[in-house]
Amino acid sequence: MQIGSIELANNVIAAPMAGVTDRAFRIIAREQGCGLTVTEMVSDLALLYANPRTYRMLDFRGEKKPLSVQIFGSNPETMAKAAAIVVERGANIVDINMGCPTPKIVKNNEGSALMRDPQLATKIVESVVKSIPTIPVTVKFRKGWDEQSINAVEFARAMESAGAVAVTIHGRTRNQFYSGKADWNIIRKVKEALKIPVIGNGDIWSAQDAANMLEFTGCDGVMVGRGAMGNPWLFREIVYYLATGKTLPCPRPEERIHTAIRHLELMVESKGEQVAVFEMRKHAAWYTKGMRGAARIREVINKTQSKKEIEEILRGLLD
Ligand SMILES: Cc1cc2nc3c(=O)[nH]c(=O)nc-3n(C[C@H](O)[C@H](O)[C@H](O)COP(=O)(O)O)c2cc1C
Repeated sequence: MQIGSIELANNVIAAPMAGVTDRAFRIIAREQGCGLTVTEMVSDLALLYANPRTYRMLDFRGEKKPLSVQIFGSNPETMAKAAAIVVERGANIVDINMGCPTPKIVKNNEGSALMRDPQLATKIVESVVKSIPTIPVTVKFRKGWDEQSINAVEFARAMESAGAVAVTIHGRTRNQFYSGKADWNIIRKVKEALKIPVIGNGDIWSAQDAANMLEFTGCDGVMVGRGAMGNPWLFREIVYYLATGKTLPCPRPEERIHTAIRHLELMVESKGEQVAVFEMRKHAAWYTKGMRGAARIREVINKTQSKKEIEEILRGLLD
């Protein structure tokens, strides 16, 4: 699949997820075969003020290219400057967040609030495209603000006209947050309306789901979010299934635990042990979900203070 001038190895993309898709997650997702990863969303103003925590989010050491960096904001000028900064730091694609439903974001007219102001959204895309003319700019948005204001198709057309080279559509409204079922019909309608590639997103939990979405909507690529949390193998399962029509076996417990430990090691490398140990709690819970003894282990992991302790507990699950 092609995003502007960039050819992806395949059309299976890891979704941007704040608090999840950091460097460690992205490295593992790419090792498992997805064609592209997207960073957590990064604030335009935090980039302009050179916030150290935000700059740490632009640590791409050891990552495969292309890299897509997602930015959010509501001011065309600061978004243009932020885009230039992330490109200078290594972004090969800049994605603009117009889908985040969180109150603290939408109250600033950012994220999915931009779906209620297509004119401003258009200006943002135009301004970003102008500031980074050689870099593909993409936009990620939702079905609409609420059931009474479903505007994904018109909105997508506006983004295309403004210069986006691909869009991702999550088939839920802002008011749904992550509840209910994603509407794949709206993805189909957006695909039918645009010339640029359309990436479908929402409720891909298995390789079969990915194949179904591609078939049902005609979309060019699929983006996988929650299904890959603690389950990066979903990427290789999807890629393999799309290529062969065959299902790969589930990862064995040994692989799950070894990958979880590697995830922890990569996080320590990026963020230091203290932050990594804290953040690993949720990943460890996801990686071990459904394994024998996992519930008790989760409780223990939530009290650990060191990498070594987490490693020992995880390895204990294999005894
Ligand atoms: C914890 C979490 C964090 C998220 N953060 C972002 C984000 O930073 N930017 C974004 O565009 N979408 C974000 N999303 C939305 C996902 O990218 C995706 O659109 C959504 O989860 C639907 O896909 P799924 O059904 O495959 O999970 C987030 C979702 C979750 C669950």
